[in-house]
Amino acid sequence: MIKKEMAEEIRFFELNTGAKIPSIGFGTFIGLGQDQNPGVLAEAVTNAIKVGYRHIDCASAYRNQAEIGLALKKLFDEGTVKREDLWITSKLWCADHDPEDVPKALDKTLQEFQLDYVDLYLIHWPVSMKRGSVGIKPENLTIPNIPNTWRAMEALYDSGKARAIGVCNFSSKKLQDLLDIARVPPAVNQVELHPQWQQPKLHEFCNSKGIHLSGYSPLGSVLHKNDLLKNPTINLVAEKLGKTPAQVALRWGLQARHSVLPKSANKERIRSNFDVFDWSIPDELMAKLSEIKQERLIDGNGYFVHETYGAYRTPAELWDGE
Ligand code: A2P
Repeated sequence: MIKKEMAEEIRFFELNTGAKIPSIGFGTFIGLGQDQNPGVLAEAVTNAIKVGYRHIDCASAYRNQAEIGLALKKLFDEGTVKREDLWITSKLWCADHDPEDVPKALDKTLQEFQLDYVDLYLIHWPVSMKRGSVGIKPENLTIPNIPNTWRAMEALYDSGKARAIGVCNFSSKKLQDLLDIARVPPAVNQVELHPQWQQPKLHEFCNSKGIHLSGYSPLGSVLHKNDLLKNPTINLVAEKLGKTPAQVALRWGLQARHSVLPKSANKERIRSNFDVFDWSIPDELMAKLSEIKQERLIDGNGYFVHETYGAYRTPAELWDGE
């Protein structure tokens, strides 16, 4: 008799704080919730929570946290979900790196969400901008002082307003520099991760240091027209397993042991993207996916890299050659 193997569900990953982060987070950056689309984001977040997502990935830079807060309040009031069953992540923007501004930025975020803590608070980029500056302009770029900012993040962790702290877009080198000075080590590094940008070295480094990796743009990013989902290898695997290319990309991430943060405004895609727990990609197909040609999609060029301003002259400097 052939025994059907049970897929490992991979619903959570354990952080170095002992907390369990849900392995699929709903991403909230797609120009949703902005003036041209009032209500779309609230509906998407509501749909996501109703089909089972328990992790919402947010940032003050997305400028839509108040809309998310209203949607959450409604769900709490209706009894659909309880605060303690949700995982809410937010991020400190580059113009708020000054240690005096860090607690104010989190307070503003909490006020927008109508919450008294976040589960995870991340430094959004290893990049700083002039205090109070709005938008991304080269002349606003300054030289970051991550140790100073991190001490203020540690104070938020001590206060309980941020139950875990971490960073985004940090290379192994920047993580090591941070570990060298940290009293509270970062729990998470959130970076671009998908089958076309797998970052095995960063995985190995984070694994060895007990830092959890979380993957943004797991479907190849709307900013790059989701070309990833047309990749022939992903499509071959999807066909063999009877799954969608998006489901394969997301399940690949879970099996690579990082959380994934897909976005969608479409009810059916929100549902199908969450349907990745009761099946798995066999080893031989994981091996095929590991052969996909690698390419970083979001390199910060034109935003955080500039010949005169800020800390990084080239993308290689921002990513320390990784
Ligand atoms: P839509 O909102 O129309 O579903 P990423 O998370 O990598 O940044 O990608 C986000 C983009 O991927 C969104 O524009 C979303 O568009 C699209 N998307 C989400 N789920 C799927 C899916 N299952 N198939 C195709 N495109 C998807």
